[in-house]
Amino acid sequence: MSITELRHTGGGPASDDGGTDLAVRAEGLVKTFGEHRAVDGIDLDVRPGEIFGVLGPNGAGKTTMLRMLATLLKIDAGRAEIFGVDVAANPHVIRQLVGVTGQYASVDENLTARENLWLFSRLQGIAAPRARRIATELLAQFGLEEAAGKPIAQFSGGMRRRLDLAASLITRPPLIFLDEPTTGLDPRTRGQMWDTIRGLVTDGCTVLLTTQYLDEADQLADRVAVIDHGRKVAEGTPDELKTTVGNSALQLLLAEPGQGPAAMEIVRRVLGSDPILSPEQGRLNVALDQADLAADVLIALRAAGVSISSVSVAKPSLDEVFLALTGHETDGDDQTGTEENR
Ligand SMILES: Nc1ncnc2c1ncn2[C@@H]1O[C@H](COP(=O)(O)OP(=O)(O)OP(=O)(O)O)[C@@H](O)[C@H]1O
Ligand SMILES: [Mg+2]
Repeated sequence: MSITELRHTGGGPASDDGGTDLAVRAEGLVKTFGEHRAVDGIDLDVRPGEIFGVLGPNGAGKTTMLRMLATLLKIDAGRAEIFGVDVAANPHVIRQLVGVTGQYASVDENLTARENLWLFSRLQGIAAPRARRIATELLAQFGLEEAAGKPIAQFSGGMRRRLDLAASLITRPPLIFLDEPTTGLDPRTRGQMWDTIRGLVTDGCTVLLTTQYLDEADQLADRVAVIDHGRKVAEGTPDELKTTVGNSALQLLLAEPGQGPAAMEIVRRVLGSDPILSPEQGRLNVALDQADLAADVLIALRAAGVSISSVSVAKPSLDEVFLALTGHETDGDDQTGTEENR
């Protein structure tokens, strides 16, 4: 499937000409740092009431894009509207419409959770009694009642993320930006965060989130844009993206890299589709509609005398989606490091 075929596919008709405003409409967004185009001409349409995922590896330009849309960074070229309001022309209005949570929680360590929420409310100009009420409501909504009196310094990573998200909801903005809401969280806490995010949408919010994880986009997002080196390389529903790499991925390392062409031919014959030859010598990525087709491929390879030094069958990862879409691995030229060494 081509990239253009992936675009503008999922969901109902977007009302392009008047009618309901899109939650986010960006055209040709560009941000340049020195010589480096961190965001290099991105178009984005986010419909009201959806969870839209921006998927990309370290350094792809996800945070930079969100910061431009949130008026925290100047837009160098292109334009963006939020609920029909021009971002560059009306920064004050945009800040009322968008709740932003940081990639790293931005709260005062020495204050308690309740004090932090109260303080943020007051800073937004909310009167003291109402600020108290809002703090109580948000603590309950995010399951932080028991921890309400503890200083943030004693909070776990998951509690910090929830508090950070709670703080961004004080003004009840209709659009929420979440920058990698679950990076670094354990699986159970991630699941809780996903439920929380789904709850926001049930309450009528629109969510634009960034993630490095295909499974997160898969679990949460109605539609996903994949970005790489500041450009959008694909867009569609999670299912559409995954079908570009199949439901499972068979990875083969050939004992003799010279047998690559023969192996490609056999896979093509058995599955009727081409495997992806990885840049690494003798490694093939084979997209499978069903995991059990792996056996057919392996049997055919053995019958043809192609020997294999390692085999794995897994769900397609972001790496495979990337490899399929861009022809290169996700690690790229990034300097910020992987999740493990953060
Ligand atoms: N203030 C800045 N000055 C110079 N370069 C920057 C600045 N902010 C970001 N960059 C560069 O722009 C590129 C995109 O960075 P960005 O933070 O948007 O990536 P990201 O997709 O959010 O990555 P991650 O997953 O690691 O958070 C990177 O190459 C980064 O080094
Ligand atoms: Mg980022």
